[in-house]
Amino acid sequence: MTRDARTLAESFDLERLTPEFYVNPYPTYRALRENEPIKRLPNGAYFLTRYDDLVTAYKNTKAFSSDKKREFLPKYGASLLYEHHTTSLVFNDPPIHTRVRRLIMGALSPRAIAEMEGDLVRLVDRLLDCLATKGSFDLIGDFAAAIPIEVIGNLLDVPHEEREPLRDWSLAILGALEPVIGEAAFARGNKAVRDFLAYLEVLVERRRKKPGNPDRDVLTRLILGEPDGEKLTAKELLHNCIFLLNAGHETTTNLIGNGLVTLSEHPEQRSRLIAHPEMIKTAVEEMLRYESSNQLGNRMTVEEVELRGLALPAGTPITLCIGAANRDPAQFPDAESFDIGRTPNRHLAFATGAHQCAGMALARLEGAVAISRLLARFPNYALNGEPIRGGRVRFRGFLSVPCVTGEMRRMG
Ligand code: HEM
Repeated sequence: MTRDARTLAESFDLERLTPEFYVNPYPTYRALRENEPIKRLPNGAYFLTRYDDLVTAYKNTKAFSSDKKREFLPKYGASLLYEHHTTSLVFNDPPIHTRVRRLIMGALSPRAIAEMEGDLVRLVDRLLDCLATKGSFDLIGDFAAAIPIEVIGNLLDVPHEEREPLRDWSLAILGALEPVIGEAAFARGNKAVRDFLAYLEVLVERRRKKPGNPDRDVLTRLILGEPDGEKLTAKELLHNCIFLLNAGHETTTNLIGNGLVTLSEHPEQRSRLIAHPEMIKTAVEEMLRYESSNQLGNRMTVEEVELRGLALPAGTPITLCIGAANRDPAQFPDAESFDIGRTPNRHLAFATGAHQCAGMALARLEGAVAISRLLARFPNYALNGEPIRGGRVRFRGFLSVPCVTGEMRRMG
């Protein structure tokens, strides 16, 4: 451990991050993992960076609670953002969590997801046709973000012409989950919840009158509830639809964006994938590990827990750093290198345990189809300008990435 690394670890404060950290957080994560794997932050919370410790916390749902009612109160007060986040299944413990998760999982079965592949391929190919006509394009706006918004829109059967505001609502609501938010971000987040609720009330009313196919349409499924009579309250229904639309959106955009940028930075891995397109599955897993789109998770201890000899009292807020755990050399040999053939690759990009991402099979499919088809069509795609980062610590990705297709274009 060098002096620099020790200083990095000692001075780390999630509420006071430097511009360099946003560009490349990994030297800091490494310093923490090696020097202070259970780091006490100035606000009294603990920041965990080792793979094994994250697995312990994720698997022990009894001691590490996901319920955020207490933690979010000082941050959001009695606001719509508070109501939204504390009603979402991800921020709840059983029995609410179990009930809502069961309903959602039914519509994300392997069969339901396999049925989505044809539409997904057609959507991606249409977008690639547009890129071919343009020659230069924004990897995020023109491609990566356009895919999940359609897929998740289809999942809830939101009419195409009504999908436009979804991305901005989602960015505003998830943006408010950053460790520190200013007044403007708070106001934007609240307004997005209000507008989203107003929109969904109308959509739910229409769907109640004319239900869809519950095997494919999550909204109909949530409205109808379980055959044994379990139903969501009106508030639970609306907030969990918002959550689902958000959960499947920015994260998957960032998987596609981060994946293609990382490939462009590793020409030998890119050539390897072009020569061996059958490696796309392990390549997507490596992209998820190497540049995890969701870098942080949170839990609260509800009883005293001992971790590496340290007693954490009940009521301790914990941040689980997925980005650091996914580069832990104790779990991943040569962890800092990007290897599209890496196996095994038991990364935590989708977490693990009871809250493990409900949409991971869908995200993997979207990532594989989008990345493999872009690479097959434009093997020479290249960045041609400075990418703009999203500037967030929790959700790692880009707002825009100027690119060219690299195709020789016929002169008219
Ligand atoms: C690359 C894309 C994605 C990543 C990296 C990702 C990551 C995660 C992570 C880390 C969690 C666990 C949060 C926690 O407990 O602290 C989670 C939960 C969840 N994700 Fe994803 N996700 C992705 C895509 C999706 C998609 C496409 C959907 C929906 C179609 C989705 C739906 C959900 C749901 C419903 C939960 C809550 C599960 C629960 O609490 O039981 N996610 N996701």
